[in-house]
Amino acid sequence: MKNFPILTAAQAAEHIQDGMTVGFSGFTPAGAPKSVPKAIADKAKAEHAAGRSFQIGVVTGASTGPNLDGALAEAEAIAWRTPYQSNATLRKMINAGKTRFFDMHLSVLPQNVRYGFLGPIHCAVIEACDVTDDGEIIPTSAMGASPTFCRMADKIIVEINRYHPAALRGIHDSYEPLDPPHRQPIPLTKVSDRIGTVGIKVDPKKIIGIVENNAADEVSPFDEPDDVTLKIGENVAGFLAAEMKAGRIPKEFLPIQSGVGNIANAVLGALGTNTDIPPFQMYTEVIQDAVIELMQSGKITFASGCSLTVSPDVLKVIYDNLEEFKKKLVLRPQEISNHPEIVRRIGIISINTAIEVDLFGNVNSTHVMGKDMMNGIGGSGDFTRNSFLSIFVCPSTAKGGKISTIVPLVAHMDHSEHSVQTIITENGVADLRGKDPMERAHLIVDTCAHPEYRDQLRGYFEHVKSGHTPQTLGSAFAMHQHMLETGDMRGVDWSKLF
Ligand code: COA
Repeated sequence: MKNFPILTAAQAAEHIQDGMTVGFSGFTPAGAPKSVPKAIADKAKAEHAAGRSFQIGVVTGASTGPNLDGALAEAEAIAWRTPYQSNATLRKMINAGKTRFFDMHLSVLPQNVRYGFLGPIHCAVIEACDVTDDGEIIPTSAMGASPTFCRMADKIIVEINRYHPAALRGIHDSYEPLDPPHRQPIPLTKVSDRIGTVGIKVDPKKIIGIVENNAADEVSPFDEPDDVTLKIGENVAGFLAAEMKAGRIPKEFLPIQSGVGNIANAVLGALGTNTDIPPFQMYTEVIQDAVIELMQSGKITFASGCSLTVSPDVLKVIYDNLEEFKKKLVLRPQEISNHPEIVRRIGIISINTAIEVDLFGNVNSTHVMGKDMMNGIGGSGDFTRNSFLSIFVCPSTAKGGKISTIVPLVAHMDHSEHSVQTIITENGVADLRGKDPMERAHLIVDTCAHPEYRDQLRGYFEHVKSGHTPQTLGSAFAMHQHMLETGDMRGVDWSKLF
């Protein structure tokens, strides 16, 4: 480390100019740099105050924390952003058309960078717990797309964050596939396989300086499970236990992928308490609190992921017992944690959360009322399309019952009926496999929809007299329209619409 100049965050930010594209480490707030982005935001404010333009392209592994997306969005310093975000200020900028946002499958981001589809990466800003003089960077709590950013960037700024111990060395497995036409099969056949290097090797001449800090990851605490999320979790666990009993899931069980957010965290907790489900492994993207808790109880035996997106208390448990956890955890680049080839090969059971689901099994994971971006598709498409068994979960209503998450037709589609196999709400399980569109519609309404919305939903497809898929274009969005006009999806009168 002694070979590299120590910079203040402000000195590092001087290397970032208007119009540049910056690749930041991290995946969720875990592993994202905290000092340099804030200093870039301060520089942007100063430039704007002096009447000069200053905006950059921001590429990360996934979402980040308040010091990155939050600070840069508040400073109006983001010209464009990809591949995922979850920050309230940035979301507002995107939905107001002030920041361009490209929503992308997270597994393809690194190759899109290598293929040049996003233009050059002028600088990479990478949070690390260690860097050697010969240019080996050891990331912190996430791998994200850092190996690719480091290789493609013209220059690299390393944020050494002392909050994360240098003993993290050994938890990561850095691997980048070759690009077509030279790509080879990825040699990963078991969840726990290691196929790469412990650190990211870069040309040390590209490292222009080191910024030191000591700052916790900005991961928000998860909501305590409530009656609805607990019931969703129980329904998922009951369904998977029954699938195993029926011989459709092997007795060794299969690796689980579980999505992001409160619901996913609660579902995983419920899987842990179901005694009919044997101890299992995770091959997932984000490792949330529930994974670590189940690892401690012995229910999860190994977890492969891209980030440790855990609350500060849970991260402390890991760091206090690091050598033990390093035997059971591996952090991979998102290109590998989410790779379709691996997902299909090892037979993953994917469990992701929907914003809304339609009567035929199409899923919207990203847009509210068809237009406003929530977070992005994340890894849900990488896993759903290629899994052994795909599951989408959601509460049957949102916003205190004013919105039914089961709708005639999704107002934006991320996952089509061809990839979605099971829908689970607090009310029940709709196993869509081997069902035609009309059978799916009845099943989803009878098992998953909220009782208050069932007759209204039946009223929709009962008017349709012909066609393979009982859809009526003129009234497919009547429930959404009613919501926009009255603030509630209840009370649609189909007789006036057909
Ligand atoms: N219409 C309007 N708003 C809705 C809605 C709907 N149909 N369904 C949910 N919401 C709102 C909720 O009310 C809540 O709003 P709030 O933040 O104002 O309270 C918000 O969406 C989040 O919902 P919540 O119930 O807290 O669920 P969550 O934290 O589990 O997040 C997703 C759910 C869908 C937003 C989240 O899982 C996501 O971004 N998924 C896409 C990415 C993905 O699947 N990644 C997987 C990685 S492998």
